Amino acid sequence: MTIQIKGKFNAIPHPVHHRLKHIEIDDNALTQFLENIKHFNVERIEYVPFMRFALAVELRKVLGESFQEMLKEILHDRETGGFTIGVNNLTTNTDDYIKFSTALTHLIGIPNHDAMSNKFYAIFTVKHTFESDTYLRKAYRILELHTDGTFVEENTDWVLMMKMSEKGAVGGESRLLHLDDWDDLGKFSTHPLAAHKFKFSYADRGSKNIKDEVHSPSFFYDQNKVCIKYNHQCTHPQTISEALYLKDIQDSMENSSGTVSVGLPVGQLVIINNKFWLHGREPFVENPNLERRLMRQRGRFIG
Ligand SMILES: [Fe+2]
Repeated sequence: MTIQIKGKFNAIPHPVHHRLKHIEIDDNALTQFLENIKHFNVERIEYVPFMRFALAVELRKVLGESFQEMLKEILHDRETGGFTIGVNNLTTNTDDYIKFSTALTHLIGIPNHDAMSNKFYAIFTVKHTFESDTYLRKAYRILELHTDGTFVEENTDWVLMMKMSEKGAVGGESRLLHLDDWDDLGKFSTHPLAAHKFKFSYADRGSKNIKDEVHSPSFFYDQNKVCIKYNHQCTHPQTISEALYLKDIQDSMENSSGTVSVGLPVGQLVIINNKFWLHGREPFVENPNLERRLMRQRGRFIG
C-alpha cells in the first residue's frame, strides 16, 4: 500500500547556473519510491512501453500530482527550462537509475527511439581510448554546443542526461547555453540564412544507425519565442556562405559569456528544454583509467 507523502519536494535555484533549478526530494519519499518499484524489471520496461508509464505513476503516487505539474512548468518556462535532480545517494544501482529517469521522462512526455541503442534510452561510455566516429565519445577534446535530434523527423523537445558512474574523471563538465544568454542571438536569428532549410543528416556515420535526412531551418519560433536547431557535426552546408554562417554561429556560441560549465554528481541527472538550450562537454584531463557512463533520453512533451 502506498502512503502519499506531502510536501516532500522542493525546487531551489541551481548552485552553479542561474537559469537552472535543482529539485530536492525528501529521502523518505525517494526510499519509498525505490521500494515500490523493486519488482519492476528493466527488461520488461524495455519491451513493454506501458510499464514505463507505470513507473511514472509510482513516482506520482509518492510525490503527488503537483510534482508532475512543477516538472512541466519548469521545462516549459522560457526563463528556466531546465533542472537537475538526483537519487540522494540512496542507490548506486544501474537499474534504479534507469527506472528513476524513466519515471521522470514519462511524467513530462515520451522518449523517442534512440537509434544508437535501439531502445528508448542509451547508455554510453567515455573512455581514454578513442573508439567513436563522432565527438560524443572523444574524451580529450571539447564537445561543441549543439541541440539533439536535429537529424530525425520527430520532435526532440527535451534532453535528459544522467551520470551513471565515473572513475579517473577530472573535467568533462556539461557546457550549457540558454539561448537568451547568447548576446548574438538577434544577429544570427534575423540573418537571411536563419530561415534557410539546412540538410541535417548522420547517414555518413555508422555509429548513429540512422539514414534520415532532414531539411529544416536553424531558427524557428515556438510560442512567439525564437528557438534553435543546431548541430555542427550533422549539418551539411551546400555553399561557402552557408558554411560561414554555421561556423560564425558556432564560434560565437563557444565564446559567449553565457556558456557555463556545470558538473553533475553521479546519481544526478539534468533535463533541459532542447528548443532553447544548447549543450556540450568540457574536455577531460587525460587519464588511462578514465571511464564515465552517461545515460540519455530524448523525447517529446505530451500534454
Ligand atoms: Fe547531445
